[in-house]
Amino acid sequence: MPSFNRRLIAFVAVLFVLTFLVTAQPGGKKILVAHRGASAYAPEHTLAAYRLAIEQRADFVEQDLQITKDGVLVCLHDLTLERTTNVEEVFPNRARLDVSEDQAPGAPPAKHWYVPDFTLAEIKQLDAGSWFNEKFKGARVPTWQEAIDLVRGKAGLYPETKGPEVYGKRGFDMEKLTLEMLKKNKLAEPGADAKTPVIIQSFSAESLQKMRFELKTKLPLVFLIGFDPQKQWLTADGLKRVKEFANGIGPAKGLIEREPQLVTWAHAAGLTVTPYTFRSSNTGKYKDVREEMNQFLYTFGVDALFTDNPDQFPRR
Ligand code: G3P
Ligand code: CA
Repeated sequence: MPSFNRRLIAFVAVLFVLTFLVTAQPGGKKILVAHRGASAYAPEHTLAAYRLAIEQRADFVEQDLQITKDGVLVCLHDLTLERTTNVEEVFPNRARLDVSEDQAPGAPPAKHWYVPDFTLAEIKQLDAGSWFNEKFKGARVPTWQEAIDLVRGKAGLYPETKGPEVYGKRGFDMEKLTLEMLKKNKLAEPGADAKTPVIIQSFSAESLQKMRFELKTKLPLVFLIGFDPQKQWLTADGLKRVKEFANGIGPAKGLIEREPQLVTWAHAAGLTVTPYTFRSSNTGKYKDVREEMNQFLYTFGVDALFTDNPDQFPRR
């Protein structure tokens, strides 16, 4: 092999290793994850929101995953379709009357249109854009494959296994489906595509443990941590236990605000820190979302963050 080619291969290999290191290790380049796409400006989890996130230079584009009745992974935050589509209009008689997870405790049963009660063909009939703004009328719920095809080569993928236990009860194996999809796209190994790194996230420790130990993925895993009862993981000991199955934590930003030392403890345990969610519509005591992100990245020292406003990400 000519020596120029050998040097080129060596250069690409080094680039590839560096890319993996900066996206997976504490202390590297600050990473911008577009939360549900650029969801402050376009309807969340639509191709328009993903496209805009890429234009706004997101390092990763997030996809929350749900499963249709016919077993297809689609990108949607809620287990139900009514908040972000016109399902109520298109399928008025297909609701279940129950108390869903996102209702307040003690709330009366209400009508819910669950994703796994609908086939992909049915879900594709729904308008996922008008609720946000009439100009997005006709936007569709994307399959994960469509999202991968759009994002691939331009940013990383940051899928979240949503409600894996709910899907488990309905006979679906969300973790297996997720990893199989990555395998089908030749993205199941770390560094498989230097331009498309993949990080998997979940609020479920069991879901991450299953992917790490049973399904043997080597991809970086991020454990999302909300308030009670999950915040019990946020002790020096708890974080050491997290390190056994994950590469990073994704805490609610308020947990860091309350206890900034968490970042130091997580880094000491070898975990990256990626808080959620930074949005112009909710910046608390900060002047604006840029100032808030600036504080978390450069004063608290987090490694990455989830934001609805990728264009406001402060770079240094
Ligand atoms: O995945 C990070 C953040 O998105 C967690 O919150 O509810 O928006 O999925 P949620
Ligand atoms: Ca999410």
